[in-house]
Amino acid sequence: MGQNKKILVVFGTRPEAIKMAPLIKELARYPEEINCLVAVTAQHREMLDQVLDLFGIRPDFDLNIMKSEQSLFEITCRVLSGLQEIFNEERPDLALVHGDTTTTFVSALAAYYLQIPVGHVEAGLRTGDKYAPFPEEINRRLTAGIADLHFAPTGLARDNLLKEGISREKIFVTGNTVIDALFLTLKDNYSFNNSVLNNIDYKNHKVILVTTHRRENFGGPMKSVYRALKTIVDLYPEVEVVFSVHRNPVVRNAVAELLSNLNRVHLIDPLEYEPFINLMNRSYLVLTDSGGLQEEAPALGKPVLVLRDVTERPEAVWAGTVRVIGTQYEKIVSEVRFLLDDQQHYQRMSEAVNPYGDGMASQRICGALFHYFGFAGNPPEEYVANKK
Ligand code: UD1
Ligand code: UDP
Repeated sequence: MGQNKKILVVFGTRPEAIKMAPLIKELARYPEEINCLVAVTAQHREMLDQVLDLFGIRPDFDLNIMKSEQSLFEITCRVLSGLQEIFNEERPDLALVHGDTTTTFVSALAAYYLQIPVGHVEAGLRTGDKYAPFPEEINRRLTAGIADLHFAPTGLARDNLLKEGISREKIFVTGNTVIDALFLTLKDNYSFNNSVLNNIDYKNHKVILVTTHRRENFGGPMKSVYRALKTIVDLYPEVEVVFSVHRNPVVRNAVAELLSNLNRVHLIDPLEYEPFINLMNRSYLVLTDSGGLQEEAPALGKPVLVLRDVTERPEAVWAGTVRVIGTQYEKIVSEVRFLLDDQQHYQRMSEAVNPYGDGMASQRICGALFHYFGFAGNPPEEYVANKK
């Protein structure tokens, strides 16, 4: 066996933490080969800490950069200068980053400035529109420009990277670690530690689970989403909306203005991942502009209506469980009504297909890292969607 290699995993927001947690657990199984350190930028604070607690991850470094309503400039500068010190001190053999947040791109940049190799988990997602999602599309493209290893969740993500001139031997198709996290967390007969959620009549009522946070939807688009929600609960007495309201004050203010004190609209603080996933599992449909929810809900057989004009995750759209509907009031009302009124349509959309993973993405990434470090002869077998 080769010498022990040091990997510094860097992340900062809730979704990065959820999707990196299973990989950190997997790497920790090989202390002889891998010394895995964790640095959090804490671009998110409470929403990050919820995930760290759930998965029992104690970061070795915490930049604690979050400020209320922080700008992209502030995040970028504070992450870059904070990581300079940590990377300089630790000199890891590889930095591992995830996805497309500003933490992701700036961490890759900091590693590059010190000529530290970078592995990019959830590489290759693209919409082709540099402003949608903003700034994520550019964050992930710039990260790909820096990365030495690209862990593509799907064949489509691999093809996107190949089109950008990344060589095939640097890409590993692994499945998405979000499905690893989901399988680790889903419980039978889950009971919520929350009276609002425990009091919902899941048998006779239809729960619409809602989240919104995309920067390009701030202002008019978000408001038209919220007006549509109000119309839907007015029209359907059996509908209960559970809206997990992101901590961003821009979102919270708009939600408070348009959705406070409405019957059957439950506004809740961000849930911990475990109750959130178990709530999704009991919902009728999901209405969201989130990236991660577009991957999780199809795995649970829940139809998703995406409140965006484009998606970087078309696999579930092609499979028929996700529809990209934009943020126009009339369109949202009609698409939700279609799913509430037409059981055949609902049935078609809720047939569980899971194009994003089989729960073994972390193992494959770990195997690819062993190969990269020369600990294993062959790279792992790649993920193929729906392979039984
Ligand atoms: C960030 C990412 C986005 C990702 C999303 C996941 C960027 C630019 N955006 O967006 O790609 O999809 O996270 O949720 O990287 N806040 C808190 N507590 C928290 C978290 C946030 O109070 O735990 C508030 C703060 O006021 C903060 C604001 O939310 O300034 C916005 O956070 P920020 O990370 O800038 O953007 P997000 O919209 O969360
Ligand atoms: N999530 C959560 N609690 C919530 C809402 C979402 O744990 O109240 C999880 C969700 O299961 C998914 C991730 O957070 O794994 C998605 O994060 P978000 O929508 O903030 O970011 P995105 O995926 O759009 O980057």
